[in-house]
Amino acid sequence: MGRIALVTGGARGIGEGICQALAESGVTIAVSDLDQTAAQRRADTLPGSGHRGWAMDVSDESHVESVFDRMESHHGPLAILVCNAGILILKEGGIKPMLTEISLEEWERTHAVNLRGTFLCCRAYLRRRQIRPVADGRIVTLSSSAAQLGGYRSSCAYISSKAAVLGLTKGMAREAAPLGITVNAVAPGLIDAPMTRLSLKPEDDAQAAVPIPMGRIGRPADVAGAVRYLCSPEAGYLTGVTIDVNGGTRMQ
Ligand SMILES: NC(=O)c1ccc[n+]([C@@H]2O[C@H](COP(=O)([O-])OP(=O)(O)OC[C@H]3O[C@@H](n4cnc5c(N)ncnc54)[C@H](O)[C@@H]3O)[C@@H](O)[C@H]2O)c1
Repeated sequence: MGRIALVTGGARGIGEGICQALAESGVTIAVSDLDQTAAQRRADTLPGSGHRGWAMDVSDESHVESVFDRMESHHGPLAILVCNAGILILKEGGIKPMLTEISLEEWERTHAVNLRGTFLCCRAYLRRRQIRPVADGRIVTLSSSAAQLGGYRSSCAYISSKAAVLGLTKGMAREAAPLGITVNAVAPGLIDAPMTRLSLKPEDDAQAAVPIPMGRIGRPADVAGAVRYLCSPEAGYLTGVTIDVNGGTRMQ
């Protein structure tokens, strides 16, 4: 049996790119998203066979547990989990809210998807791998350069949730190592995906690219390439790291 990957929020944007890159490597993809039809449509376009779309709200504990059960009885044990689903709540017109403007509901919703969703999916995956181990298990989480730099277009709620993902990733890396599972993060910069298009019009791309050393905003395939590497057997000695995919905007 081939390797199976679950990509959350896989129906569009960066998640779509990750599904494509992993499928091109011969991995079978469980594409999950809020909407079953969108997830299935994406699964149907991927190269290879056995891909399937699943409706799963990553912020809902019982939903995550029941979908993981159904997924694993359909596909077999997941080798790879990519926690890509995320949200950014902006004001009308794509303007970032200042901290003083963020409602408690927006704060909680942002953390429920970006942080709780990552926790719930990683917990569901690791619980199952404790019982049914796989070779070369992999978790990849999605943070953001906003968490490292303080963000320009994103809210404090988003920055907080994505910074917490970095800490969670390191903690999980230590705990999952005895299972042979690596846990790493990618931190994209400005990527041409729907979340970016909430606040950036295509005609403003050239201006937005001025401070980026590589001279362009990123593409979903740029992020997907880093994720594909982290999920490969060759990356088995990397754990607890963050790969920055930002065109050189932040150099460590
Ligand atoms: N676009 C960027 O420039 C950028 C930069 C840094 C980090 N990121 C991160 O990369 C990831 C993907 O970003 P994107 O730009 O492709 O975003 P997107 O909005 O295009 O896609 C996010 C996907 O997640 C899904 N989703 C939202 N809430 C969900 C939930 N509760 N359960 C399951 N799925 C849910 C959406 O339906 C959507 O398909 C996110 O975690 C984002 O924070 C994006």
